[in-house]
Parts: sequence; C-alpha cells; structure tokens
Amino acid sequence: MTDETPDDPFHHLHDEDYARPYLAGLATAQTLVTLAGRKVESLDGEWRMTLDLFDEGLRQKWHALDDAPPSQWAVPRDYDIEAGERVPVPSCWNVLKPEWTHFEGGAWYTRWIDWTPGPTDERAVLGFGGANYAALVFLTGTYIGRHVGGSTPFSVEATAHLKPGRNRLQVFVENRRRSDRAPMHHFDWFNYGGLYREVSLARLPPVFIRHVSVALMPDRRRIRVDIALSDAIDGEADVEIDALALKASIEVHAGRGAIIVDAAPELWSPERPRLYDVVVRHADDAVRERIGFRTVATQGTDLLLNGRPVWLKGVCVHEDDLALGKVSTEADVRRRFRHARELGCNFLRLAHYPHHEHVARIADEEGLMLWAEVPVYWAIDFANPATLADARNQLSELILRDINRASIVIWGVGNENADTDARLAFMADLAATAKRLDPSRLTSAACLINRDRFTIEDRLAGHLDVIGVNEYFGWYEPDFSGLDRLLANSSPDRPVIVSETGADAAHGRRGAGRLLFSEDWQADFLEAQLTRIAASDYVRGVAVWLLYDFRSERRQTGFQRGFNRKGLIGADKETKKQAFDAYRRWRPPTAGRRQD
Ligand code: GCU
Repeated sequence: MTDETPDDPFHHLHDEDYARPYLAGLATAQTLVTLAGRKVESLDGEWRMTLDLFDEGLRQKWHALDDAPPSQWAVPRDYDIEAGERVPVPSCWNVLKPEWTHFEGGAWYTRWIDWTPGPTDERAVLGFGGANYAALVFLTGTYIGRHVGGSTPFSVEATAHLKPGRNRLQVFVENRRRSDRAPMHHFDWFNYGGLYREVSLARLPPVFIRHVSVALMPDRRRIRVDIALSDAIDGEADVEIDALALKASIEVHAGRGAIIVDAAPELWSPERPRLYDVVVRHADDAVRERIGFRTVATQGTDLLLNGRPVWLKGVCVHEDDLALGKVSTEADVRRRFRHARELGCNFLRLAHYPHHEHVARIADEEGLMLWAEVPVYWAIDFANPATLADARNQLSELILRDINRASIVIWGVGNENADTDARLAFMADLAATAKRLDPSRLTSAACLINRDRFTIEDRLAGHLDVIGVNEYFGWYEPDFSGLDRLLANSSPDRPVIVSETGADAAHGRRGAGRLLFSEDWQADFLEAQLTRIAASDYVRGVAVWLLYDFRSERRQTGFQRGFNRKGLIGADKETKKQAFDAYRRWRPPTAGRRQD
C-alpha cells in the first residue's frame, strides 16, 4: 500500500477524507492463516502505546515519521514513539490506568521486530488473535492492512515489507461504538479496547497451508479432510493419524483438496474426551492438531451427540475480568471450566462474541460442549450491506479458527434481535453461512417469543437447527406465570435451549421472599425456573445467566454499581452466592425421556 501525502504539511487539518488511504487491504476470513499447530515467533510483551482520540495519527500519518529523537527534529511533531506509555500486549487499556477506564477511541501500539531473513522465498505473516474493534497495521512506515471485528483473529502478510535488522511495527486500534458495527452502540457488557490477544510472526514456505479441517462424517465411519493452500496451485498433500493407522494423500487442485477416508475413531464425548494427533502436510509445510471426533445432530426436538440424546446443563460466561478486562488467560479459562464442572455442567455458552482460541482447545481436553457466537446483539443496522459483510466475516473467521474443535457443537448467529424483514434476511444469511462453512455443527440464536400468542415462535427459527430462548420470567416479570404459559402454549418442531435465565444478586444481601437483588431470591428464582424447564418435553438444555458478575455500564443501582450481578459467583471469580449451590444440586432431566 502507498500513501498519497499532499505537500501541504497542514493538509490534515481540513482533510476529513483522511481515512481513504487505509480502506484497501482488509484482512478477512479469505486472508486468514490459521496458525494453530505451527511454531510462531511471539510478539507479545512490552509495546509503546499512545492514545489518539481524534485519529490524529491517521490525519498526520504518524506511521510515516522517522525515528529521530526530538533533538533532531527540524519542526515540532505531535507524536514520539518513545514518549508512549509502556504497556503489555496482550492487554486492554481500560484496566491499565484509571484515566483510561472509559476511553473509547484510538491508540497507537508500537514495537520493533529484529528480522533475520530466512530462505529467499520464505514468507512472513503477522498473526493477531484479536483487537477490539478495528485495527490498522503499519510496518517500516507503510500501511499493510486492516481488520474490523473485535473478537476474531486476522493475518497480515509482511513478506514484502520486512527488511534485515530493526523493523517498526505499529498497530492503530480503535474501539468506538458505531451504528454500522456488530455489536452496535448498545450492549450489556463492557467496551474494552486494545490489542488484547496474542500477536505473532510466522515464517512460512512459499506455498503454505492456510486452513485444514478434519471432521467425522455423520455416519461416524468415515473422516473428511479438507485443505486450503495459500496459492491456487495443483499438487498433493497428505494426512496422517498415527493412532488410527491412517495415512492418505490428498489431491490438490487450484489450492484446494478434500478426501473422505474410512475410519473408526473412538468418539469424543464429555465422559471420554478422546483426542487424536493429526498431521497434515504439503511440500515443506505441516500443520499439527489434536482433534476429537464426534457428531452432533437433531432428531425432532432431541439433541444428539454421537447419535444419542443429550441434555445440556450449561452456564453462560463473558470474557470479563476485574484485573485483565477482556484478556482471558489459560488460568482464567481453566478456572471457569472448574467452576462449570463443580456445577455439574456439560455445556457453556460463550457470550456474546468469539472467545479466545484456547477456550475451545481446553474444552476439547476437558470434555465440555460449547455454544460459540458472533455479537449480532440487540439492535444492529440490519439493512446495511457493510454491516452484514462485517458480521458474516466475523462468523467466518470464528468458524475457520475453531473448525477442528470437538467441544464446539453450536454456532450462534445472534441474540435477542427485534423481528424485522431486514433482521430476518441478515440472520438467515448468517445461519446459511455457518452451514456452508461447517455442515457438521448446529446453528442457533437467542430467538424471540410471540407475545401475542405467548409461544416460542420466531421467523428466524426455521433457519436454525436449535431454538435459543432467553427468558427471565420471575425476574424481569413479577412471577413465573409467563413461563408456564409459554412452555404450555409452544410446540416447536426442533430442540429448544433456554439460552439465558438468571437474576441479579448482590453478595451478602440476604432475606426471605422476593427480595430483589438478594442471594436468597436469586436461588429461589433459579429453582423455580429449573423445575419448569425440566418438566418441558422439548427443552433440551439450559444455559444459566451466568457464571460470574461482569462489568456493564448499564447497571447503576447501589446493588450493581457498573456490574451485572447475575453471576452465580461474584466478579472476583471466587465468592459463590447461594444460587451456585442451588444450581449445583439440580439434576437435569434424563436425555431422550420426559422428566416426570
Ligand atoms: C439479555 C442479554 C444479556 C444480558 C441479560 C441481562 O438476555 O442477552 O446479554 O446481560 O439479558 O439482562 O442480564
């Protein structure tokens, strides 16, 4: 990419079209390189960060400045890398300094890469685990690519821009809430900003493996392997699964190849999460993955795992941490799974956006099933083609990243979206996109109910495999009669999951009866909900809202003070409330048979 820089040094003061040079080079699912299973050079650690509320750096082209110290400047500047704050990457700026807590704007991250060239035809790809919401990447003073979507990975090729020795890498990240984004202006979680997931540099051969997917076929007697290369060439790849004595070659045409081979792997399940080491090779490149083989399907109103009915006892969880914000470390993930296990859960709903890549990887090992989703949440500009492209791309990047994770059984395409024709077209497109990219998993969304007929009824449901229903009867409504009516009136033709139900409780607030925001009422509410849910003959799961209290600026009573308090555990991720025990004691219905 080259920038047209006008001669007038003050051109930027009046050029509101300053972003135009940075519109090309959009990193999408088509340019994503799944780096899982590869050796990469980590670029995590200390970076310099300069806040930029006005996009001043884009207007003045800070990326194009040389590295001269102030003593050598001929005229004054407004940006000096060395004056930037030293911050860790990954991190969210909101939790680094009190004055940055509510910052919604842009920030320039800068670090240096000492580059020693490899073989002449070697390729170099920068990998980003996630940046909220948008990112522009600059290397050695040149703009090389951008990404939109706050929770999905992206790749930017750096081959042509790295020079031997020191290279300056700059990433401009901005977390503004905008009407054309997903999510849009208004959502019930905290708007963290920053380069909050890992950054890496991968050295790749001239033609490399961009994606691999390895999945059990619905008959559970064959495995399908798909490979996509970086370039549209013909050739041959191969797949090897030692533990299955399986080795097969894959013909590649125009950069794509697929085979279906007979195989009888031990099936992955929560009880026995068997994983296999899989290697896929092409020329000098290889991708190594640990993969579990299982099938998910529906049959009438039943959910089937490996052909058998399953009931999902679940809990929802956000990426939110008092100290780390949206950064989720491996320890944080293992703690949430430990708590889910203590509750007797076999399922988690990863609300409301793609979580860190290691979540599904660890769930594969632990035998937990997951609902992963994109933040098509509440009001979205459903009539905007650019918004649909953004949401579709976020979903595609999520699916490509996690395609080999046995734990993920459901792709969620949205949450509680008012029913309009534009919304229906938008979300039906997402559901179709998920099916096209991954026919092996189920699709769902938190759908609406028909308030006139008081039934589980949403035009979108016909485009989904599983109907998600968020319902808070007894919390946002004074009693449970609505839930009784809804369950009695509805006769869905496919499985229903109560994808959210919960009540706020401030830890330590105790008292009998419907004492709002008390631990006792949260526990009583949950027991009343679960009794009704278990009695239904078509509900096949519940995801209690939610595991931990989390930051939300919408919540400002004395009980909440900027937090949503529906957690079964407090925001410290240790202090359990009465409802935790109530849910731990509850036994879900036996799958496949009505609970009498
Ligand atoms: C909604 C929404 C959640 C929200 C919850 C609540 O169902 O999906 O994101 O946090 O209700 O009101 O607590």
